[in-house]
Amino acid sequence: VTTKIRAAVLHAINEPLVIEELELDDPRPDEVLVQIKAAGLCHSDLHYINGSLSRPLPTVPGHEAAGVVLACGSAVKSVRPGDHVVPLFVPQCGSCESCLSGRTNLCRYFGVPESEPRIFRAGEPVGRSSTLGTFATHALANERSLVKVRSDAPFNRIFYCGCGVTTGVGAAVFDAKVQPGSSVIVFGIGGIGLNVLQGARLAGASTIVAVDTNSEREAMARKFGATRFFNPATCDGDVAAALLALTEGGADYSFECIGNTAVVEQAFNACHPLWGRCTVVGVTPNGKMSSFNPQSFLMGRSISGSIFGGAKGRRDIPRMVDWYMDGIINIDDLVTHRIKLDQINEGFDMMRSGESIRAVIEF
Ligand code: APR
Ligand code: ZN
Repeated sequence: VTTKIRAAVLHAINEPLVIEELELDDPRPDEVLVQIKAAGLCHSDLHYINGSLSRPLPTVPGHEAAGVVLACGSAVKSVRPGDHVVPLFVPQCGSCESCLSGRTNLCRYFGVPESEPRIFRAGEPVGRSSTLGTFATHALANERSLVKVRSDAPFNRIFYCGCGVTTGVGAAVFDAKVQPGSSVIVFGIGGIGLNVLQGARLAGASTIVAVDTNSEREAMARKFGATRFFNPATCDGDVAAALLALTEGGADYSFECIGNTAVVEQAFNACHPLWGRCTVVGVTPNGKMSSFNPQSFLMGRSISGSIFGGAKGRRDIPRMVDWYMDGIINIDDLVTHRIKLDQINEGFDMMRSGESIRAVIEF
């Protein structure tokens, strides 16, 4: 027995996604069948479409969503039919060495290739992103890749907690642990950077500099907490030197939210030489390198990275949803476009052109 689904399928790099009818297998004992209600278009999906990250094709992309449980395998304990859920691209099994270590949010199941196909097209296997594949009317998720959330929160907002919101807010609050009164520079004011801005504001940073080559992002940046806006295109000299001057000696924290190896270097060199901490949030292309002067590390600058904002999905997403419902974080203004599954390619065009912050597919 299978469920017939409609899904967007990536058949070849740099080609439009194709909307097709596919078959989704029935839940195994540890799996849950989810009806997807809202799915976000994230920059990481675009990385797979344009080939800067790669995976076997054909595949159903999409990893940022919210939906309702339709059916559960016999061993599933934490959710039941009717529950509202957010799928997790970083699982949280809760019992592996990583989950128990208290040192990482990356469960040992993160990024592990799937042993068996779960989606089929005329009997042939089709892959899926992040063991989810949310650009579809339905998805199967292992219980460890799902969290129950309150049922009064709108799907077309909380889908974003499944990736962008948590990644950005968490990078500032959970990973970098921005301190009250500190200074912060955020490079790249897109769907992720705006969330780092609001995370920095939430943490009480007093100077927040937004850096983007697109000056049209200034108004949004200020709405989400930036106290200054800097466009590197307007500066002839070294971007890091200009920002060191602008922050009177370097920021306490900097964040790279683009995925550009040259900007990672700027972000590192723009933070305070004795204690500045640079956090890499953007996903750089496979194989590309950044370089640093190791003497900077001796002096005290540091650099680290953040996946999914250091959050553990089953623990932290319900809290993110509460923060949204309590007005502590703003999601409404980030969801700039509401589209249907058939418009998914136009949605990615808007991402490429910078017209959208977040487009959401509503089912
Ligand atoms: N310097 C400054 N800003 C830049 C530069 C640059 N060299 N290049 C691009 N930008 C700006 C763009 O103008 C845009 O506003 O970076 C922003 C990137 O925003 P989005 O395209 O919306 O990307 P986003 O969804 O925020 O993702 C950023 O994080 O999770 C990862 O995979 C994701 O690597 C991607 C990154
Ligand atoms: Zn685990």
